[in-house]
Amino acid sequence: MSEKWNIADLPDQTGRTVLITGPTLGGLGHHTALELARRGARVVLAGRTPAKVEETVAAIRAEVPEAALEALHLDLASLASVRSAATAARQIGPIDVLVNNAGVMGTSYSRTADGLELQMATNHFGPFLLTGLLLPQLVASEDGRVVTVSSMFHNLAGKPPLGDPREQHGRYSKWRVYGQSKLANLYFTSELDRRLRDKDLPVRALAAHPGFAGTHLAANGQYGRSSGGIASILDAGVRAVSQSAAEGAWPTLWAASGDLAGNTFVGPSGFQQMSGAPRRVGRSKLGQDETAARALWEISEETVDLRYP
Ligand SMILES: NC(=O)c1ccc[n+]([C@@H]2O[C@H](COP(=O)([O-])OP(=O)(O)OC[C@H]3O[C@@H](n4cnc5c(N)ncnc54)[C@H](OP(=O)(O)O)[C@@H]3O)[C@@H](O)[C@H]2O)c1
Repeated sequence: MSEKWNIADLPDQTGRTVLITGPTLGGLGHHTALELARRGARVVLAGRTPAKVEETVAAIRAEVPEAALEALHLDLASLASVRSAATAARQIGPIDVLVNNAGVMGTSYSRTADGLELQMATNHFGPFLLTGLLLPQLVASEDGRVVTVSSMFHNLAGKPPLGDPREQHGRYSKWRVYGQSKLANLYFTSELDRRLRDKDLPVRALAAHPGFAGTHLAANGQYGRSSGGIASILDAGVRAVSQSAAEGAWPTLWAASGDLAGNTFVGPSGFQQMSGAPRRVGRSKLGQDETAARALWEISEETVDLRYP
């Protein structure tokens, strides 16, 4: 296969079970689920709004009538919800791929019921706990993968998010914190993959980023919705200048299915990695800081009250 990946390279997925977070219609999770279902995977759609998950189920079934789809209720901004979702997910059996896709971007300062800042809670701590709780099922698949969707915005982090996650020191910068949450996705991937290899467990961790894709992320972050008034205008504006959500899902799809080593990071090959067919990409210097990755791991285990093997 050439260095760049194309949707035609997505192999048959029959027999594989994939759990995808954040599958709302029109987003990257929806398109990731659609293509995997088209290739025969059993897909578990884990979302926080049951009606939205059902909407995506109906849309995928309209294109792939034989799709094997299941719904799971999951609010990543609540550690209790993540624990209940993981308990409910036990009936799924072995999981071949967990796609940590769901996320929020650029939200105003707010704290979850667990006392965590919303972006770090949703984009990092929730997925950290979910992955840890699902690890036995990923191991049971005998060739598991964890794909975490990061962003080029990891470059905006400035410094690693290593302070007390329940304290806010200084002014809150929503873009910097978003960047830190996406940097956390890369630290999570590298440290998880290192630990899995260390323990000789049959699971790989990889990261992907979509470049700039026409989803509801910007409108959701700024207005808490993607339709109605100014939110519709921003949503349409983003779609006009970005690659499609379908193309934005390609890096995730490659990371979920390709012959790629653990800790590979995949993103678009075009100008500034904004669009184009996926290829292997690098991380910022900060993104390669293994000491920071280990420190965040310790903080995360303590914060979510879970010890990985
Ligand atoms: N689009 C881009 O250009 C871009 C660029 C770089 C990285 N990314 C990353 O791509 C991923 C997917 O985003 P997207 O662009 O597809 O945006 P999106 O259309 O807004 O989809 C985000 C998904 O995350 C879900 N979500 C948000 N908060 C959640 C929570 N507390 N619990 C469970 N699910 C939650 C949303 O559910 P609701 O619909 O219920 O809100 C939605 O399904 C994110 O991790 C984002 O950081 C996107």
